[in-house]
Amino acid sequence: MGGKADDVDVQPLIAAAALARRVDELSEEIAAALPPDLVVVGILTGSFVFVADLVRALDRQGAQPEVRFLQLASYGLGTVSSGEVQVVGSLAGRFEGRHVLVVDDIQDTGRTLAVATRILNDRGAAAVRSCALLDKPARREVDFQADFVGFAIPDVFVVGYGIDYAERYRHLPYVGRVTTPA
Ligand code: IMP
Ligand code: MG
Repeated sequence: MGGKADDVDVQPLIAAAALARRVDELSEEIAAALPPDLVVVGILTGSFVFVADLVRALDRQGAQPEVRFLQLASYGLGTVSSGEVQVVGSLAGRFEGRHVLVVDDIQDTGRTLAVATRILNDRGAAAVRSCALLDKPARREVDFQADFVGFAIPDVFVVGYGIDYAERYRHLPYVGRVTTPA
């Protein structure tokens, strides 16, 4: 594992097998807390691999999640959050009276999941819960905490398992830490 391209290094942080185990555990926690006809709303683009694995794990728990995606953006091409969450696309689907699970790759400042939760509440959801594969508690800037978290990690920039650095490395099967050689 590990990879090098251009000016950055990627060092493995969470192996593929550890991700798979934790996704299974998360699906058990979620299936115990939400009804089987929940709606999973993935935040694009970073959550696409996590959502794909999570909904299949939920199926093994007997759930039949509807799957939707909402495109939000806060990072552009850099490694520092712009501090503003933009709604890039429209969210298809009817959410009135539904139990919704908003799913993102990383909870960083907390703004993205807070905004997504507000959007789903505004659409009439009966209850909105949230899930982040990774959580960087040290970076929180708004008073929001995901209900389900895969791994708490330190304040490092990560890629892989759907997560990018300038649109690269989403294909890595593991989560790696980006380091810039001196
Ligand atoms: P928040 O709105 O600040 O919580 O940011 C959440 C979003 O920031 C996530 O959906 C990611 O797209 C992005 N993000 C935060 N940390 C990282 C990182 O280490 N690598 C890549 N993207 C990140
Ligand atoms: Mg994202």
